[in-house]
Amino acid sequence: MKAFSPSSFIGKGFRRIRKLRQLTDRLINSDRAIVPRGSAVYEPNYETINFIKRTECRHIAEIGIFKGFTSMEFAKFLNGEGELHLFDYEDSVRSVATALEHAGFRNVRVFGSSYKLLDSYNWSLAKLLDKNAEPIYDYVFIDGAHSWAVDALTAFLADRMLKVGGYLDFDDYDWTFCGSPSANPTVFPLTRKLYTAEQIASKQVKMIVDLLIKRDPRYRSRAKVDEVPMLGSTYSVAGIGVGSTKGTAAR
Ligand SMILES: C[S@@+](CC[C@H](N)C(=O)[O-])C[C@H]1O[C@@H](n2cnc3c(N)ncnc32)[C@H](O)[C@@H]1O
Repeated sequence: MKAFSPSSFIGKGFRRIRKLRQLTDRLINSDRAIVPRGSAVYEPNYETINFIKRTECRHIAEIGIFKGFTSMEFAKFLNGEGELHLFDYEDSVRSVATALEHAGFRNVRVFGSSYKLLDSYNWSLAKLLDKNAEPIYDYVFIDGAHSWAVDALTAFLADRMLKVGGYLDFDDYDWTFCGSPSANPTVFPLTRKLYTAEQIASKQVKMIVDLLIKRDPRYRSRAKVDEVPMLGSTYSVAGIGVGSTKGTAAR
């Protein structure tokens, strides 16, 4: 006899609702159908938050916010100083902005994208780049699409907007589409239409970090930066810029 477990029962219920909503998106031909419903994120990214607490960063961008678990911790860390910029789809940024406002945080700006197939936060970043001739961020946390197609450009744009001594932080270093509970082709068939089998099996965040950031002499990995008490700035070796990369385990 199978033992009754309330959590597995609730989990099953959520998965069913998610499946149903996904199916409805497809049936009504909604633009929303291009994105999987749900995510395996239930809490803030503590590694990121523990790290940033050891810095003086005051201008932070979080790219991909989901329910705002980490956004709330960034806002608490800033405690009204500087600015927190949040990037995601329009409905996500609106609801997280409301929650942050209710919590008393007024130093938050949000940048929403549509659900058009080729739209993303890269468009919002381009507009910000247009308005700011100088880099504006101390810290950019990239935790969005997790694909080379989107986030290789995000890394490039973030680099342009990162101040000397700032940090680039990539979540989900080992993440793959095939290993994702919400985006694998069995539960989300569009993945198979958008990507080749090789791309579905590849660690695309790792590719971005390894090929674009680690090879760039202006960047130092966080581990190295951690070895000195003055985070970041003491590593401005070439005088061009400095940052750090971090690849956390898949969540
Ligand atoms: C893993 S979740 C972010 C989790 C969040 N950083 C946290 O720590 O709680 C990824 C987010 O990226 C967003 N995203 C993915 N592709 C996107 C795109 N093309 N445009 C805008 N947002 C996107 C998703 O909507 C989702 O909310």
